[in-house]
Amino acid sequence: MSPLDPDALEPEALDRAADILTGSRYAVALAGAGMSKESGIPTFRGEGGLWTRLGEPPLNQYQTFASDPARWWERRIEEGQQSAQSEFALALEAAQPNDGHRALAELEEMGILAHLITQNIDDLHRRAGQRSITEIHGNRYWMRCTGCGARWPREEFIVDPDHLPPTCADERCGGIVKSDTVMFGEPIPAEALHRSALETAQADCFLTLGTSAVVYPAAGYPIDAAQRGVPLIEVNPEDTPLTPLATVVLRAPSGDALPRLVEAVRARREGRS
Ligand code: APR
Repeated sequence: MSPLDPDALEPEALDRAADILTGSRYAVALAGAGMSKESGIPTFRGEGGLWTRLGEPPLNQYQTFASDPARWWERRIEEGQQSAQSEFALALEAAQPNDGHRALAELEEMGILAHLITQNIDDLHRRAGQRSITEIHGNRYWMRCTGCGARWPREEFIVDPDHLPPTCADERCGGIVKSDTVMFGEPIPAEALHRSALETAQADCFLTLGTSAVVYPAAGYPIDAAQRGVPLIEVNPEDTPLTPLATVVLRAPSGDALPRLVEAVRARREGRS
């Protein structure tokens, strides 16, 4: 049966996952690009992924930026129009939250999902109503000071092409400003790392949703939870390195699995199941 066939979602796996979540008081989730696939945003890896098709980008982006921030900004302004027309940028601009994002926000509303760590920069979880979120790889709609960590909405931060690189609005800092999106090789802001570790340490259930679980430190949080004996629920049409650690695997798209999982938990709470 094709993994993308909605009936591929085994009823026993769904029941088991719903039983675990119904008994949970502090579930934590790690989301990856697969969560946004059904919003039209391509994944990076796995079947049909951007990098599966086009090859990986240079992994020294941050070193290139840090070695000459002014030149990096000049190139970003020069290539602005062209990069805005890339497949990925166009998909991000057009994307809307999908049923998987909405189901995750419902799970928070129900008092089951306490915190979401997302690797996605597309803001779709927040737009779906999720409130307790760590965007461990940043958010494309924000700018960030690499000195003090201050952040501003992208549209509020005016970049003067005659004064590059842009620097922090706080003159006492003077740090260099870049997009909030974390580049390969860039240190993840300490506050995001601290919060992710703190929430993982409190989890009584951990969900990994649409992630290939190959990028650290993000992929380490579900492993830390599983090693503490916390039940791990994986939602992914494909196997990942976390599959052997999973208590339950929902081998289906998140936009299909998560709404059905929330409905099964709701049925248990209302005594209908
Ligand atoms: N629903 C759920 N999962 C899906 C779906 C779907 N509809 N379609 C594909 N997937 C799964 C794929 O099987 C794959 O395991 O989503 C996963 C996407 O993996 P990646 O593209 O590697 O994305 P992610 O895990 O978020 O990558 C982590 O690496 O590329 C960098 O910084 C980038 O944040 C990203 C990080």
